[in-house]
Amino acid sequence: MDNKKPNIAVLIVAAGSGERFGAGIPKQYQPLLGRPILNWSVDIFSQHADIKSVYVAIHPDHAERFAAVAPAIPALHGGGTRQQSVLKGLEEIARRDKPDYILIHDAARPGLSSDLITDICNALKNNDAVIPGLPVVDTIKRASADGVKTESRDNLYAIQTPQAFKFDTILALHRMHADKSLTDDAALCEIAGPSVKIIAGEKGNFKVTHAEDLALMEQSIAARCGDIRTGTGYDVHRLIEQTGRKLMICGIELPHSHVLEGHSDADVGLHAITDALLATICDGDIGMHFKPTDARWKNADSAKFLRHAADLIAAQDGIISHVDVTIICEAPKIGPHRDAMRAKIGEILALPLNRVSVKATTTEGLGFTGRREGIAAEAVATVRLPFTSRPVLRDDDIRKWGT
Ligand code: CTP
Ligand code: MG
Repeated sequence: MDNKKPNIAVLIVAAGSGERFGAGIPKQYQPLLGRPILNWSVDIFSQHADIKSVYVAIHPDHAERFAAVAPAIPALHGGGTRQQSVLKGLEEIARRDKPDYILIHDAARPGLSSDLITDICNALKNNDAVIPGLPVVDTIKRASADGVKTESRDNLYAIQTPQAFKFDTILALHRMHADKSLTDDAALCEIAGPSVKIIAGEKGNFKVTHAEDLALMEQSIAARCGDIRTGTGYDVHRLIEQTGRKLMICGIELPHSHVLEGHSDADVGLHAITDALLATICDGDIGMHFKPTDARWKNADSAKFLRHAADLIAAQDGIISHVDVTIICEAPKIGPHRDAMRAKIGEILALPLNRVSVKATTTEGLGFTGRREGIAAEAVATVRLPFTSRPVLRDDDIRKWGT
């Protein structure tokens, strides 16, 4: 890899039918801590600074499901086996893009951390094929007609995804060996390809295969993200006569005699939630990230500010559990718009409706809100962060193992 930042893309394979999992809904669309399994890896790759684009290979029958959970991500059609899904995905990426490197990841591994992605991208600086693995710790025995025999576990690794390769190399290998039946992509390099570097995988990056793995994955992520943070946010904007502006509250345009004054769209509700989220990671406030003097934010859609706060949390492998906002005003009436507001906030933060609360109150004619001079909003956000960003094996182990 030269010094110029390489174009690294990701192909997430999600075209399987999850037969061993055995549920009505394919496993990659099953909820994991409230979010579909597939979304965990889509989101973690999408917000990673080293990754330029994310593609997902889906089963054509799942197109509607996929569009509902990840509308912004290009869906490619997979094939009848994992290997065929990878090849079809790579061919389609080659038609659309020219990445230098590709990471190939199983949607069924939602528990990877952004540190693992960083480690893999760093290892590509000195290697053309990089895979994560964990040394086998259990005693290994082979059962056959001759009885049970203990095998040496020396130098044995349990291999995970994402697996990273030079794009052109792995595409050529997949094309050349489409007739072989292989369980991972690095196996192609063993037939005829670059030497493979194993780096430290993560215990939490196991594959959800059977139904009971889902509960284990939930426990694993919940335990990793056991640092529960609460943040509050408060915002006020002045009400002014109509000036051609719209009155925006929680991302919804409300018909009213007055509008809110401000540099951006003055969405008091989204501003309060943004500050509450920033507070959970102790990262200042909205004005610090988006200066009110900056012309770029003139009349800006405040959804952008809220999304930015969510991205900062995602960059720390954090999870937004819940947001609650109270709008304080005499008018307009918030109640009729409450559900539209919840849906909009949920859409911006990729949260289900049961994790977004919107309330409203008057102040009984008292104070500036009572005199209808302005509207206030206060918000509370609950976020789960990892206690440490390096939960398992680290650099020393990587060096010790070599390949
Ligand atoms: N996969 C794929 N295309 C296939 C088969 C599998 O993209 N034709 C993907 C799966 O969606 C999964 C990954 O490859 O993300 C690993 O496969 P596996 O865990 O075996 O998932 P399934 O094939 O869905 O499950 P099963 O084998 O139990 O049916
Ligand atoms: Mg399978």
